[in-house]
Amino acid sequence: MIIDIKPLELSKRGACPETYSFGADFSDHMFSQNFEQGSGWEKAEITPYHALTLDPSAAVFHYGQEIFEGLKAYRSFDGTINLFRPSENFKRFNRSAKRMAMPEIDGKFHLKALKALISLDHNWIPEQVGSSLYIRPTMIATGKKLGLGASDSYIHFIITGPAGSYFKGGFEPVSVYIADKYRRAVVGGVGEAKTGGNYAASLYVSEEVEKLGYSQVLWLDAVHGKYIEEVGAMNICFVYENKHIVTPALSGSILPGITRDSILKLAPALGFEVSEERLDIEQILADIKSGKITEAFGCGTAAVISPVGKLCWKGTDYIINNNKSGEISKQLYDELTGIQYGTRKDRFGWIEKV
Ligand code: PLP
Ligand code: COI
Repeated sequence: MIIDIKPLELSKRGACPETYSFGADFSDHMFSQNFEQGSGWEKAEITPYHALTLDPSAAVFHYGQEIFEGLKAYRSFDGTINLFRPSENFKRFNRSAKRMAMPEIDGKFHLKALKALISLDHNWIPEQVGSSLYIRPTMIATGKKLGLGASDSYIHFIITGPAGSYFKGGFEPVSVYIADKYRRAVVGGVGEAKTGGNYAASLYVSEEVEKLGYSQVLWLDAVHGKYIEEVGAMNICFVYENKHIVTPALSGSILPGITRDSILKLAPALGFEVSEERLDIEQILADIKSGKITEAFGCGTAAVISPVGKLCWKGTDYIINNNKSGEISKQLYDELTGIQYGTRKDRFGWIEKV
């Protein structure tokens, strides 16, 4: 399919701030295409960033038929632009689409559309290491109907924006509250799909734990309330005795993170053991208390690698590594971001040049 590129003016990024926050600034242009049952995807175009006009009866407003992705473009040390494993995001986008009864998008076309958009807005990619262009591919159901059923029309769009650290403190440890009363997702549900409802359902709990002074929620499995799943915007890893990295096995209700997968592949190459296991919260807390767990960190595209300094369970804080960021988290952070910014060898062929 041809992409109609109709920017009315060139990228007008002005003076850039010293640092960016996350998700607050947006580039000048966006990609979009429409789907109609019977005719498929059409009207692929890149236009100035604009508001969408939707009928109030559009299915997305009522039944939450929506999916999204999150990936980044990095300005490499030599000025070229790097995408990190974009095809994995597009595969996950299609898995989410299938689960949410939405149409899939050809991965090659998705990449072509993204590259065309970034080529146009490349001035928006920040130079500062630690900053990048955050990319948000999204699909929403636009069909006008209140009867419950999959929509027959959709918009797929991609917006981007310069972004800094997801957490205000940068690489400082985050404090995490383990939800004991609320659950994020259930096996057989939509936890492994990247759909807005999973996030909407978490907001009340996030607000409650923020009031208690914690920045993230750690979710347990919904059946037993016992096994660790993931954190609000990240997967989680525990480091045993400075050498063994353990993360919850994908259960069907955990988002299969691309950063998580990258760590599982990178860490052995750096000399660490890795395993994916069913992690009982009581055992993890006992292992923190006894000092067997020497570090913990969350991992995700927005959050990169974020040390976890404190876990709160039923009112008691369990402190990890004296609430300091650890050496292994830093080593993995340096290796991962080194690949992303092009300063370290891309040993797995993860970088896609724009
Ligand atoms: N888990 C949740 C709920 C997320 O929102 C994210 C972020 O995308 C992740 C895990 C990490 O996934 P990824 O590494 O693909 O960004
Ligand atoms: C990402 O890391 O890209 C995400 O989608 C998480 C989001 C909650 C910011």
